[in-house]
Amino acid sequence: MSKLTRFGVSVDSVLLEKFDDLIGRSGYRNRSEAFRDLIRDRLVAEEWTDSDKETVGILGLVYSHEARDLTETLNAIQHEYVDMIISATHIHLDAHNCLEVIIMRGKSGNIQKVSDRLLSTRNVKHGRLLTTTTGAGLD
Ligand code: NI
Repeated sequence: MSKLTRFGVSVDSVLLEKFDDLIGRSGYRNRSEAFRDLIRDRLVAEEWTDSDKETVGILGLVYSHEARDLTETLNAIQHEYVDMIISATHIHLDAHNCLEVIIMRGKSGNIQKVSDRLLSTRNVKHGRLLTTTTGAGLD
């Protein structure tokens, strides 16, 4: 970890009250930690604007394994990008529905592309990509 620097921030008092209320409910012990997380969150969002940046994405998909050819289609797409997919977990939610969680590491543009293909596959009921980070440089 690099050295800490203290700095002052001028904020409208009503805005600061709302912030304190929010972070209090979120379990932060102090403003500094909440502020550091806001900065990191913004930096990670910025990482995702560079399609060549190496990063990490977590895709969740909910679908019925009974939908015609769907499981095979989703598997075939994943096999095309085997170098990027570092983990895939399949959970049987009930007699019909499945949850697949796919963890990918690679260029953000490629992660977005694979995710878009999987999410737009016919009969996928719901899905979402969590755009996160390798964590490098975010101490
Ligand atoms: Ni299943």
